[in-house]
Amino acid sequence: MKHYTAKAHTNIALLKYWGKADSELIIPTTSSISLTLNEFYTQTTVWFDSTLDQDRVVLDGILLSTKASTKVVHLLNLVRQLSGLTSYAHVESHNHVPTAAGLASSASAFAALAGAASRASGLTLSRQDLSRLARRGSGSASRSIFGGFAQWERGHSDLTSFAKPIMEEVTWPIQLVTVLINDQPKKVSSRTGMQLAQTSAPGYQQWVADTNAANSAALTAIFNQDLATLGCLAEENALAMHALNPTATPPFTYLTTQSWAVIRLAQTLRNNKGIPVYATMDAGPNVKLISQPHDTSVIMQALHQILPNVQTQIATPGPGINIVEGDTI
Ligand code: PMV
Repeated sequence: MKHYTAKAHTNIALLKYWGKADSELIIPTTSSISLTLNEFYTQTTVWFDSTLDQDRVVLDGILLSTKASTKVVHLLNLVRQLSGLTSYAHVESHNHVPTAAGLASSASAFAALAGAASRASGLTLSRQDLSRLARRGSGSASRSIFGGFAQWERGHSDLTSFAKPIMEEVTWPIQLVTVLINDQPKKVSSRTGMQLAQTSAPGYQQWVADTNAANSAALTAIFNQDLATLGCLAEENALAMHALNPTATPPFTYLTTQSWAVIRLAQTLRNNKGIPVYATMDAGPNVKLISQPHDTSVIMQALHQILPNVQTQIATPGPGINIVEGDTI
């Protein structure tokens, strides 16, 4: 069978997905808005092979156990259902999302897998249908099909919940300074964390309403190239999301003392120096500073004053998925 290779970049949510209206289909409670990142991506090659007696998943040169490949096999099963193919697949994946960036690789991983597996099975899906398929692997992967700014419209069914491009070519100066607080695997997965918040945090419904309402303001800010408004919306949304977690049963938090120090630093740089820098955090302690390339040195200096040895990495807007026949892109 033909080999197909897909390259998909990871993305950072500016307005978050944190809870599911349907957990089997991964229909979210909120629409979310993200920026795809150029520096971090996953490259995956898939080919179906009738001589295999199970799917074979190799990640960064290591053959995954049956348990570790469960989510990959789930997505491959969906591809088999859609294409009518019955054979098992070889999956070879390389993550170029350094742990040091403190970014999750599930978005780029499942977008690349959906792209390569669907093409290898003989399907030629539209980007909308590819986004729906990637969504079934990991919600945030639905947005990694597109470059630049993308919006995942929550929808209300498998057919209506997908991401769409908002501005694929980002020509205005926006970047992310990723601040590595801790690269240890997280104790509470995003799947578990969002479920706990959704089912037991008293303020959850308010957060959902606020996030959905913030979507149109964020779209306007993107079209107006208005970093200050977009950054404020993103920081507020992330802080409100992280405020839910300690009020869940059992309570939990991803943020550490160092995370808070970086969040406060962004607020201080804004308030005292007028520098547009805004913090966002996902299901982990690492903080990403939404900012302008022009302010990098001031931000780095301030960061190293409070955390002298902290590791950082800069990420800029990146492209959507690319799928080619063969083993390399
Ligand atoms: O798609 P998942 O299961 O990796 O969940 C992503 C959750 C957040 O990163 C916290 C928010 C988001 O919208 O990406």
